[in-house]
Amino acid sequence: MRVFDKLPNGEDVYISTLSNDGFEVDVLSLGATINAIRVPSKKGSSVDVVLGYDTVNEYLNNTTYFGMTIGRFANRIDKAFFNLDGKKYQIDANENGNSLHSGKAGFCWKNWKIEEFEGKDFHSLKLTVTSPDGEDNWPGAVEVICYYTLKDKGQLEIRYEAKTDKRTYLNLTNHSYFNLTGNLSKKILSERLQLDSSSYLEVGDTLIPTGKIIDVDGTPFDFRNIHAINERIDDTENGYDHCFIFERVDESLKKRAEIIDDDSEIKMEVLTTMPAIQIYTANFMENGHKGKGGVEYTKNGAICFETQYYPDSPNHEEFPSCIIEPGRTYEYKTVYKFSSK
Ligand code: GLA
Repeated sequence: MRVFDKLPNGEDVYISTLSNDGFEVDVLSLGATINAIRVPSKKGSSVDVVLGYDTVNEYLNNTTYFGMTIGRFANRIDKAFFNLDGKKYQIDANENGNSLHSGKAGFCWKNWKIEEFEGKDFHSLKLTVTSPDGEDNWPGAVEVICYYTLKDKGQLEIRYEAKTDKRTYLNLTNHSYFNLTGNLSKKILSERLQLDSSSYLEVGDTLIPTGKIIDVDGTPFDFRNIHAINERIDDTENGYDHCFIFERVDESLKKRAEIIDDDSEIKMEVLTTMPAIQIYTANFMENGHKGKGGVEYTKNGAICFETQYYPDSPNHEEFPSCIIEPGRTYEYKTVYKFSSK
């Protein structure tokens, strides 16, 4: 572990590198952020497959959320408002009058406590964050532990453990921007995507779910069989930025998505216990957006696989509930599994 940079108040932000089997992952204490994932490539050298920044200042002054851990509530809440057990809660409205990724009190802006662990065949990190009862009006003091474990054969496991002292909503995700091309300034549009989902949430103009669940059959959202992203992206409104729903959801880890870059021959599989995934093809990213090493990123230069509960679920009784209760420890798991030929 070493110092990555400092927060504006002088506090150190740490970086720690997990390594196993030729794979390496850099994690920051700020936001429990994945800063880099280096995958051995067919050319012999390693390639970084996620977007990120070199400084704390860039992380704090952008709304890309590169690699960050999002909580208490991933994605949007309509009018930044919800009810719970008859009480009304108004939280920070940071986007078009709605809440995106929990606004100013988001876990991504917090400097998590970070601890390293070595095992026989794995290397893991434990990051802990707490949010007090009433922070930005949220009910319940919540503690979240995020374990990153780099297992054999390029498997990055993310395990969240969460506790609360009052009933509250919790919807966690990781916001990594993946680009398997081997060149982070390139678009990912020719990569091929497969998703284990036969329906998705319709959204309105400000990307808030309307409540309608749409069958993917015959639409550009049908990735049950593998399709190149650019095959039908122009038939969507502004690219993919949608919540895809999984079926047969239980506590077990299931493979739900796969993406392959035919040039680099790097493949990533996504396994999760979560009921849905927000697929975002970096539609809001501007060309020339500077990242690590001064590299210029581009619109559609990455794809996010944000495993989570449904956006705005506190305002939709019919959506799976993400309420957590006192006296229990909740556990969610996602694995990003990389391979290169
Ligand atoms: C999520 C949202 C997108 C965008 C990104 C952050 O993926 O669905 O609309 O706001 O976060 O840039």
